[in-house]
Amino acid sequence: MSDRRKIIIDCDPGHDDAVAIMLAARNPKIELLGITTVRGNQTLEKVTKNALNICQYLGIDVPVCQGLGEAIVRKSPPVEERVHGDSGLDGPVFDPLTKQLDPRHAVDFIIETVLNADSPVTLVPTGPLSNIAMAIKKEPRILENIDEIVLMGGAYQHGNVTAAAEFNIYADAEAAHVVFSCGRRVVMMGLDLTRQALCYPEIVERMEKVKTRAGKLFVDLMKFFCMTQKRTFGWEGGPLHDPTTIAYLIDPSCIETKDMYSEIDITGGPSHGRTNCDFFNLMKDKEMNSKVAVKLDVEKFWDIVEDNLRLYDSI
Ligand code: RIB
Ligand code: CA
Repeated sequence: MSDRRKIIIDCDPGHDDAVAIMLAARNPKIELLGITTVRGNQTLEKVTKNALNICQYLGIDVPVCQGLGEAIVRKSPPVEERVHGDSGLDGPVFDPLTKQLDPRHAVDFIIETVLNADSPVTLVPTGPLSNIAMAIKKEPRILENIDEIVLMGGAYQHGNVTAAAEFNIYADAEAAHVVFSCGRRVVMMGLDLTRQALCYPEIVERMEKVKTRAGKLFVDLMKFFCMTQKRTFGWEGGPLHDPTTIAYLIDPSCIETKDMYSEIDITGGPSHGRTNCDFFNLMKDKEMNSKVAVKLDVEKFWDIVEDNLRLYDSI
């Protein structure tokens, strides 16, 4: 039995999702069991094609399974092409796609893989939580073999899709409610943390020196991502949200977390989709169901990124 940490990444690539995959796929501490896709940054078809392209380009030989194309209750919000472009992964130019989609639905892949794993699996969602919620509801027994759910989503301060809510949670708030109340610990990389992982042009220049396929893909992705962050928000450097989940798995000392009770607002009002995180432990009767990330060791984070980009084939 391997002592590597077994994970499944459930994602909506997405430039930052792509970097999360890069960090996970070759790291010796991690066993990437598979990648599942969900509608978020772009349509299900586009994010799935992107996941296949990322794996094909980097030689990542894991199953890619397609999941839900819509939220489980409400209509999904619009896709985010302002940031990720029409393809959802604008910037890089990929060879014709030959990697085949695994025929299993993402929900069935998650259930089958978790139930059959010989040690607990960590779920790493970096998109809306539709697939995760459906897997839990369809087969609750998977919870017995899930050690924790390390996700990018939420914010205990300011949102990014409404004043109150962050995109991944807002996009399927009812699914997020299922996940945060499922009884397994949620390690939440919210915007409060990920807004400390700013990919400035000098970071891109630093990674341009990494002469591997992953280094090149990172640069091609981030040149587009930096351009859209500047064009859309006026920022010199955009928050690289999703890779913080993998950095936490690789070296948890790079991220300070605080135990809290967290719940999702699913009331449909102005704060719908907000992660209400009890930062000051006011609700004493509530069990602390989450570790909420509060502080990033920025230098250590970018070192982790560079170190893992170097694990790929030279160019
Ligand atoms: O709010 C940021 C999150 O939404 C990131 O995961 C990004 O990729 C999008 O999915
Ligand atoms: Ca994402």
